[in-house]
Amino acid sequence: MGPRRASGAAGDGAGQVRILGIETSCDETAAAVVDSGRTVVSNVVASQVELHARFGGVVPEVASRQHILAITAVIRRALADAGAGPGDVDGIGVTCGPGLAGSLLVGVSAAKGLALAAGLPLWGVNHLEGHVYATWLEERDPAADPGFPLMCLVVSGGHTDLALMRGHGRFELVGRTRDDAAGEAFDKAARLLGLGYPGGPEIQRVAAGAEGTEEPFTRPRVKGSRDFSYSGLKTAVMQRARARGVAGGGGGEEAPERERTVREIAAAFQEAVVDSLTERTLAAADELGARGIVVCGGVAANAALRAEMARRSPLPVLMPRPSLCTDNAAMIAAAAFHTVATGDAGAAARSDWAMDVVPGLPIGGALSRA
Ligand code: KG4
Ligand code: ZN
Repeated sequence: MGPRRASGAAGDGAGQVRILGIETSCDETAAAVVDSGRTVVSNVVASQVELHARFGGVVPEVASRQHILAITAVIRRALADAGAGPGDVDGIGVTCGPGLAGSLLVGVSAAKGLALAAGLPLWGVNHLEGHVYATWLEERDPAADPGFPLMCLVVSGGHTDLALMRGHGRFELVGRTRDDAAGEAFDKAARLLGLGYPGGPEIQRVAAGAEGTEEPFTRPRVKGSRDFSYSGLKTAVMQRARARGVAGGGGGEEAPERERTVREIAAAFQEAVVDSLTERTLAAADELGARGIVVCGGVAANAALRAEMARRSPLPVLMPRPSLCTDNAAMIAAAAFHTVATGDAGAAARSDWAMDVVPGLPIGGALSRA
């Protein structure tokens, strides 16, 4: 059984190209059906957040075992929601990196099995590039499209990357965090303040009620480079929380006062992260002549970051809606469409049966696609 050529792929422009996306790189088991890299037909995300919450972070073995329990039902559901069988899609795009090896293996194995059985082409997708392509799932006025190059800030639990996108599938890493990712910093700060997991939404929630009375934190900067750094800020939050007697959270007799302090520290922390992300991204865009900005990945769901980018950027800012910022498979299907459709001649027909997972894959890094 040979791989079937995707109708309309490789830029022949005829009709829709329907792609099934599969994503299992971290703690969401996800599958989605997307038409021509733009229209989400179905989008199923089974979150493992509650399973990991009691550990305060993702436990790799727990994650991969939960993926194997959920993957079949999630794929079935995504196809059923689209009113499609496996034979009704033109190909499968699956995340092959970066991420947790054991988790990635579940998605890649499921995708290989289904593609083989249904005679479909199979494409590996870079998860970070997927986050960028979530932006293509939003309605966009073609006249307002800034064109390439775009400065992409990919800001998630595991990554804080600045990549210059010169065209479809053409990413160049131009800045990154030297230590903690911004999402990781949100998660750690929340933990220090006794807030829940994942920390980003919790920090955002409590910070919304703050009055801004807290002394600002020093902005994390790596001098003379486009890189970010967040471990110093995390230490500063820890020291301040201890000094104020709120390390580990509120509670006790002085609960309202302690809660107020937690709120103010959370807001000051969020402001420092948002300011550094915004300042670095806009400086890099200016320096490298970008025509627009993309802000994506889980932390791009943050309301303060979205508002600050939109307010300060002289360039158009493209952001997926918050539900498409966090991990999902629609973005993987979109990335498969846009990179395959503009890739090497014949790429659309080529299935990567030898595909391996690449846990440390950087944005713009080569997949085992050849
Ligand atoms: O992209 P993502 O869903 O998974 C990874 O690829 O890592 O990102 C998850 C990260 C977590 O660290 C989470 O705390 C953060 O995104 N996050 C947020 C918000 N929602 C999710 N951070 C700040 N504000 C939010 N509203
Ligand atoms: Zn992600």
